[in-house]
Amino acid sequence: MPAQDPLEIILEVGEECRRALRDAGDATSLQAVRQDVLGRKGRLAALTDLIKQAPKERKGEVGQAVNGLKKELTDLLEERTSALGAGVASGGSASVDVTLPGTSPDVGALHPLTKIERHLVRVLASLGFEVTEGPEIEDEFHNFEALNIPGHHPARDESENFYLRGLPHLLRSQTSTVQIRTMEANPPPIRVCAPGRVFRPDTVDATHHYMFHQVEGLAVDRGITMADLKTTLLIFFKALFGDDVGLRLRPSFFPFTEPSAEVDVHFGKKGWVEIGGCGMVDPNVFRSVGIDPDEWTGFAFGLGIERLAMRQFAVPDIRYFTENDVRFLKQLD
Ligand code: DAH
Repeated sequence: MPAQDPLEIILEVGEECRRALRDAGDATSLQAVRQDVLGRKGRLAALTDLIKQAPKERKGEVGQAVNGLKKELTDLLEERTSALGAGVASGGSASVDVTLPGTSPDVGALHPLTKIERHLVRVLASLGFEVTEGPEIEDEFHNFEALNIPGHHPARDESENFYLRGLPHLLRSQTSTVQIRTMEANPPPIRVCAPGRVFRPDTVDATHHYMFHQVEGLAVDRGITMADLKTTLLIFFKALFGDDVGLRLRPSFFPFTEPSAEVDVHFGKKGWVEIGGCGMVDPNVFRSVGIDPDEWTGFAFGLGIERLAMRQFAVPDIRYFTENDVRFLKQLD
């Protein structure tokens, strides 16, 4: 058998080495291949023997082929090394500095509104309000009638609510529905708070959204007065914003409370902001759930959570809460 031509050998070895470098799937196996191919006793080193063995007139040609291959394989090794993200090409052993800090995994976080809601609820719970919830899909009795909002009332208009087509239901427009559900299920005395989402087909802008959050409060007992309402709200806001907070109840009207007031708060350097409504539970509301208004009185309030959060964290646009831009969410983390 005639001896194989040195150029053919170089070609074959080159092909095998290329394949081995490409096939190495991680930094460790790439390191092994590096030793095998470019190491001192590796396959390329063996090829240099071919130069020595070649007849004089072919030494140049064989030498060029070996050197060309060496350059090509060194480049390929470098490319593979950076592709596998390991510092192996520099020679020596693969260096892993175990003292470097690790890459921490991306851990999710609660949405800022969830955190704020939980905070509000925790403060209310510390004031003795049990936490409860109601359904987001409601019937007209709980969203309107039992709350003393009769059929002709403009708040019941189709354009003001998300009615479910063909069903006597709607997405609740207020958390006051939970007042009714609580009183239906429990005899007084009652002290509950109910956080949750509400829905209204408002045109979306910086301060309005079709979906937002409220926290409702309800206390029913013998001899409850407006002073209890105001004191409770004041303690609540002081716990949230500090002793300097200002609270102002501005006379207003809600069908389910009598008398009724808007709740304005003042904290920090900015002026008053309206964040909800409150009042003494209307006797008609008690009657609709079978509670005797001559024996029991109560107060209720409903506060907008986005309103509170926007003021507290200087958020200029309510839409930021639902756009899911992590750059915003992380700022309130
Ligand atoms: N449900 C009212 C709204 O969404 C807010 C409200 C006002 C709740 C007075 C109350 C209340 O409990 O007593 O605009």
